Amino acid sequence: MVVALDGPAASGKGTLARKLAEAFNLAHLDTGALYRSVAVMVLRSGIPENDEDAVAATIAQMGAGSIPERELRSEAAGRIASVVAAMPKVRAALLAFQREFAASPPAGKEGAVLDGRDIGTVVCPQADVKFFVTASVEERARRRHAELQSRGESITYEAVLADLKDRDARDRSRAEAPLKQAEDAVLLDTTELDIEAAFRQAVDVIARRKGMGVSASPARP
Ligand code: DC
Repeated sequence: MVVALDGPAASGKGTLARKLAEAFNLAHLDTGALYRSVAVMVLRSGIPENDEDAVAATIAQMGAGSIPERELRSEAAGRIASVVAAMPKVRAALLAFQREFAASPPAGKEGAVLDGRDIGTVVCPQADVKFFVTASVEERARRRHAELQSRGESITYEAVLADLKDRDARDRSRAEAPLKQAEDAVLLDTTELDIEAAFRQAVDVIARRKGMGVSASPARP
């Protein structure tokens, strides 16, 4: 079973994806982390962020060494990820890995949950269940601001809001695989829905699709 979760930054799709993966015993791929990894390579190497060939070339050099979470989740990595994600050569270089993960999930799992921007539209258009997870930009900025503050990054709410608006515009307007709701995706608006409520709705949809009509095992909070 393949579950696709797409949506803008800080919509709650990552948390939801992790909980669904645990509940249904599926492998989880955070595809935003792939683009963030490319961004970290750009930041570390100092190559110009708008040099498509140079940026795409760094992907071949991305080794197995894991990038510290703090560096990967930084505001700078998120901003540059959204810039390099608009490059067709970068998207092409990351596509096969994502499709392979969905087709042959690791660790003997029976399926996969992928979260990102173009999973239901481009990476896995045949996914069994698709969700489009969203929330108002103000609510998303509030969440992201709290998350960054808890990690010790000093940034104002207004700066986070402006940055999210920029990233939304870039992700939605790019020519290649823009962020948009797939026609057959179920909309989950988390503006006024806490993560548990969103999770229960998603579990119901998946259980119905699986034709089981039963609940998944409870996920850890
Ligand atoms: O979900 P995130 O904030 O970690 O994603 C970082 C950036 O990566 C985001 O601005 C757009 C890009 N991205 C993408 O273009 N396609 C994906 N499938 C996942 C992320």
